[in-house]
Amino acid sequence: MAIQLNVERFANLRTPFYYYDTNILRQTLDAINTETKKHDNYFVHYAVKANANLKVLKVINEAGLGIDCVSGGEIEQVLKAGFPADKIVFAGVGKSDWEIELGLDKGIFCFNVESIPELEVINEIAASKGKVATVCFRINPNVGAHTHANITTGLAENKFGIDMQDMEKVIRLAQGMKNVQFKGLHFHIGSQILEMDDFIALANRINELQDKLEAAGVHIEIINVGGGLGVDYDNPQGNPIPNFKDYFAVYDKYLKLRPGQTVHFELGRAVVAQCGALITKVNYVKENAIKKFAIVDAGFTDLIRPALYDAHHRIINLSSSEAEETYDVVGPICESSDTFDKGIRLPKTHRGDLIALLSAGAYGEIMASSYNCRRLPEGYTSDELL
Ligand code: LLP
Repeated sequence: MAIQLNVERFANLRTPFYYYDTNILRQTLDAINTETKKHDNYFVHYAVKANANLKVLKVINEAGLGIDCVSGGEIEQVLKAGFPADKIVFAGVGKSDWEIELGLDKGIFCFNVESIPELEVINEIAASKGKVATVCFRINPNVGAHTHANITTGLAENKFGIDMQDMEKVIRLAQGMKNVQFKGLHFHIGSQILEMDDFIALANRINELQDKLEAAGVHIEIINVGGGLGVDYDNPQGNPIPNFKDYFAVYDKYLKLRPGQTVHFELGRAVVAQCGALITKVNYVKENAIKKFAIVDAGFTDLIRPALYDAHHRIINLSSSEAEETYDVVGPICESSDTFDKGIRLPKTHRGDLIALLSAGAYGEIMASSYNCRRLPEGYTSDELL
């Protein structure tokens, strides 16, 4: 079932705002759990960077998922939402001391460590607290992903992770430290990935690395394959639930596990993108010699993905069903990049019409800014607008 957008429900709300259809979210979570239930060693940690709205987080927590954080602020937010600390994995290339301390104080499941200097600092801080930090190493697998260059992370040229050739060295280093316990490997090759071949390439790479480690007598317990599964931005209404079956089947089929190993996933976008829409109002329709602009009250401060990544979000007019015309849909911010889409067909659009930008549940509200001193958008769930 597609996202339900009911104009009457929205009548008294100040635009722009995010709307989350919790039916879609729950169906998505069910689809994930249906697949992971087939394995008693698969654990999904929702990547909270995609959406940290408390109301959304509570629904995700109810479904029993763990959490992937990349900052101390995210750890604080997910604890507020009720997630247990021992389901938190904490990644990030530049963790600050206070963030490491917070992770240790709260007793998170695992630090995903991205460099030797970071490992040394974690060991030192853990020692000062008389604690032992569980660590995995994020390895850069040098596997490309067929996605936008800005959201590719697993290539040697990217800043993330530890080089494959240094893997054994850092493991030995960690094994010699008193206040860290090395448990496994972490990977992440990028985001909005729809080609299952990319995940197959990652699984094959992990197999190679495991064989090497096994030959060197190193056993690992945790394999974290990161996130990255994409969603259908072209047809969100026809295809609202991502293809979790094929995604998990890749790891089932290609990843070679040793006894006792657990596999961890960090899905963000695939969990929340399709349940969310940005709802905005048309302030003006302006026509010049060559085109018509629908000028809406949301801008790139509310949804930056089109400006930053050339992303396309399906745009629908919730108020008009008149004959279609061609529009550029633009925001009010004083930059030309404040354009949501160009030359799209919409029913004849008027001042006051409500417009929805679909598939906006991931990397939407959370990336909002107050540039131009604009207000941050609110986020509402269907549960509270009944
Ligand atoms: N794990 C790690 C280590 C990550 O860096 C990311 C995303 C994820 C998991 C979750 O990836 P997902 O399943 O959501 O693809 N703002 C961009 C996306 C940036 C993704 C950053 N890392 C966008 O709007 O497309």
